[in-house]
Amino acid sequence: MPSTTDIKKNQLEFEGDEWAPANNHFKTNPNVNRFKKKNKDKGHSFVKIQNKLIALANKKVEGILGQGSFGVVKLGQDKDGNKYAVKVEGKKDIDEQSHEYRAMKLLNFYHGTMKRNLGAPKKYLKETTDVKTYTLLELQEGVEFSKVLVGLNNTQKLICAIACCQAIKQLHLKRIIHCDIKPENFVAKVENNDITIKAVDFGFSLILPNNQNYIIDGWAGTPGYIAPEIDSENKFSFSSDIYALGIMFKKDLGLPAYLYSNLIHQNPSARCCSLDDVIHALTIELNKPESSKIAASTTKTAASITTQATSTAKKAPSITASFKQAANTPIQADGNTQAAGAKWNLNDVLKYATPFFYKPFLGIR
Ligand SMILES: Nc1ncnc2c1ncn2[C@@H]1O[C@H](COP(=O)(O)OP(=O)(O)O)[C@@H](O)[C@H]1O
Ligand SMILES: [Mg+2]
Repeated sequence: MPSTTDIKKNQLEFEGDEWAPANNHFKTNPNVNRFKKKNKDKGHSFVKIQNKLIALANKKVEGILGQGSFGVVKLGQDKDGNKYAVKVEGKKDIDEQSHEYRAMKLLNFYHGTMKRNLGAPKKYLKETTDVKTYTLLELQEGVEFSKVLVGLNNTQKLICAIACCQAIKQLHLKRIIHCDIKPENFVAKVENNDITIKAVDFGFSLILPNNQNYIIDGWAGTPGYIAPEIDSENKFSFSSDIYALGIMFKKDLGLPAYLYSNLIHQNPSARCCSLDDVIHALTIELNKPESSKIAASTTKTAASITTQATSTAKKAPSITASFKQAANTPIQADGNTQAAGAKWNLNDVLKYATPFFYKPFLGIR
């Protein structure tokens, strides 16, 4: 499967003037919205998305940004050099009433869409489809977070954890529940300890009405990251996102148990529900002397990140009891501690951790 590691360049390199023939093609065929490259090994295909001409990365030359279960995401570039992410999916069309569309609009993540009829049904990823949609998205620079996890030192892991909290906090402030938090749905730019992390993929997202603190919807998410109340009652909330985040801290980042155990509490009302509290606890860990930090990392902390994280912590006045206590307690790296009351074995579930979609029956999105 192609992956972000396939990305060779994050800038399209054109062979002579590729724009003139593309322009001509669209002018002479006003109802056509794709200009296909002639040669697989060089040049670029072009798409017309809401009258904007976009050159698409050539898989063989520049690679792709990423691939999920539903879409392949390519780097796209307009004539002025502005860059985008273009998600190509086998779905019918974008539904402007959908939570996904509304979430993307709220985040200024969405720049337009184009539907292309294939003429006949064709297999695309897991589906058979006779149309493809091309969605022009804000480009989040970096690589898929899942691809950088292995090389992170302990300081970087803590900074990443803080950055993930901040990314989710931005969504929650706009009342967006992401509903599919996992490393594949974050894009990370890691330059030593300067780390930026952005959330992507709002395909399962829900917008929580102002007067509600949860929403019942069709079961969705990625097994292993799905909160128990979604499994049992299809109840989605900010807290169910926090549960998935806690699983990520445990399984993917391997943080010490005290930093995630309160996030993956099986009972949502006993679960930590404040991302500020989580950021605060992570920041305390980050600011500990290197010799006592997680598994005694030897990496130095960059001043800029420490400053940023400290100032965030100052803004968080309340710390939950467990975090307050934990901050004063020596910690041990323990990526395998099972949360109290956990009803399944995560190791087994995670083996099958592929996205699962069940919503069409409800006809909502
Ligand atoms: N806006 C973006 N900027 C950069 N990379 C992206 C962007 N959106 C998605 N990606 C990459 O493409 C992958 C697949 O996109 P995603 O929206 O998650 O598809 P799916 O719905 O099929 O899971 C992501 O895991 C990520 O690596
Ligand atoms: Mg995804």
